Amino acid sequence: MPRRVTVAKVSKIPNGGSAVVTVLQRDVAIFNVNGAFFAVDDFCPHMGASLSGGYVEDGCVTCPWHFWRFRLSDGSWADNPKVKISAYPIHIVGDDVQLELPDL
Ligand code: FES
Repeated sequence: MPRRVTVAKVSKIPNGGSAVVTVLQRDVAIFNVNGAFFAVDDFCPHMGASLSGGYVEDGCVTCPWHFWRFRLSDGSWADNPKVKISAYPIHIVGDDVQLELPDL
């Protein structure tokens, strides 16, 4: 059964906002897009930029350094879906933002 961990409070990530949390020694970027929450690795595979400060549009976050775009739903690179970062299921329980951990 997947494990969940509370990583943030809904009230602390406003619509259009983001936060970075560290889970299992990985930085994860959490985005609030019109009340829907998404979580992807906070690490661009191109040159390592933080994605949490990227521009979000059309279900993608754009890396602030060289503008690679990653789908928030599954972490795939919009220009080549063979390249992916990890995406994590999010569950909202009351004011808790819970991240579903991958099986190790
Ligand atoms: S570091 Fe993200 S596109 Fe270059």
